[in-house]
Amino acid sequence: MNWLNEFPVPNLRRDHSSGLLELGGASVAQLARTFGTPLYLYDFDRIASRAEEINSELRKISEGSRAFYAMKALSNISVLKVIHGKGLGMDVVSGGEIERALAAGVTGGEIVFSGVAKTEEEIRLGIREKIACFNIESPHEVAELIRLAKGCGHKVPVALRINPDVDGKTHAKINTGLAETKFGLSPELAKKLTLEIMSCPDLSLLGVSCHIGSQIFDLNTIKAAALSVKDFALELLRLGAPITHVDMGGGLGVAYGPTEETPQPSFSAWVEAAKNALPDKSFDLHLEPGRSIVADAGILVTEVIDVKPAQKKTFAIVDAGMTELVRPAMYDAYHHVTPVEHKGVTTKFLTYDIVGPVCETSCWLASGVKLPELKRNDLVAILTAGAYGMSMASNYNTRNRPAEVAVISGKAKVIRKRETLRSLWESELV
Ligand SMILES: Cc1ncc(COP(=O)(O)O)c(C=O)c1O
Repeated sequence: MNWLNEFPVPNLRRDHSSGLLELGGASVAQLARTFGTPLYLYDFDRIASRAEEINSELRKISEGSRAFYAMKALSNISVLKVIHGKGLGMDVVSGGEIERALAAGVTGGEIVFSGVAKTEEEIRLGIREKIACFNIESPHEVAELIRLAKGCGHKVPVALRINPDVDGKTHAKINTGLAETKFGLSPELAKKLTLEIMSCPDLSLLGVSCHIGSQIFDLNTIKAAALSVKDFALELLRLGAPITHVDMGGGLGVAYGPTEETPQPSFSAWVEAAKNALPDKSFDLHLEPGRSIVADAGILVTEVIDVKPAQKKTFAIVDAGMTELVRPAMYDAYHHVTPVEHKGVTTKFLTYDIVGPVCETSCWLASGVKLPELKRNDLVAILTAGAYGMSMASNYNTRNRPAEVAVISGKAKVIRKRETLRSLWESELV
């Protein structure tokens, strides 16, 4: 049985004669043996082509329409360089992400700053670096921007992030467009703030932004939010605000496995739905894709430490866990699992829970997976792990974070060394 046919992932294939899994033309087993496990592997050609595709979809709308990669999804500097090289700006949510983007060669003018609460230091940094836009989320943020922009020597560009009270029909923990969530501003409050912003000579109100959540498959939800945003944008125009763009955030869903009921929506369908936010043809559309650029380009390779028959299940305990990939623990997320070396001649298949070594019941990666019989030292690949994988990794249980390796035209390059254990307590004082 060919496990990959069950759920095809771009640029991932199995060599039928050797049974070896290949990512972007490189042998996953060989890379795992060379660089150790757990190991993140990314196909840079896939990342580049996804980045190129979304920007070219947006350019069909206008010259100024552009994607800003939500770098929280995967923020390795080499990844940022590839995406920036395809003409995308960066969507950041912290001062740390601004600094990281700058370190990748992104200029301030290509950065938009989202985020539910920005500190004085972060706002000062954004102003100093002349970022493209602050997406404002609270009255306090407006007051701070008015105070901190004074005398900075340029008009600070801002947009108001609207909470449209639209259900993104996604997991509750990543649904951000409902009124009961902490994100954005009600249109009524945003309207009040508009007048404050417009009366400040140091700020320039350039747009409206919105982000209703992540892993969205139902594009009608994007369309509903877009129509709210358009209403608000028209209101701003009536008030005389000089707005030029609408930013519909990120959130496009990615297929993680055969369990998905509907196919992954395309970039063009997403742009088509988001376009409904534009008050007229002269406006630019901005999007902030994260997951949809990097998710399916990445895999997490892990080695079986132990296979344990328990009362009700058989556990394959692997050397990656919630510390490397927290999505299953945090969102009950599904990740497809496949053997790295599998000749397809095995007749013995067993059902496993793939779990990690961390001392939490929530440290699991996949449940009820039917795989050829596993034994100690076997390698398995956790698929579609490029987004919110490494960027959410932690050191819980004093575990060092894994290495990251890029595959570029079939050749491997380490883009982050495995963290050393010593570095974990280096800054501790005894
Ligand atoms: C403001 C904002 N924009 C964009 C994104 C990226 O979302 P996704 O990775 O689902 O495209 C997020 C994710 O949480 C976000 O909060």
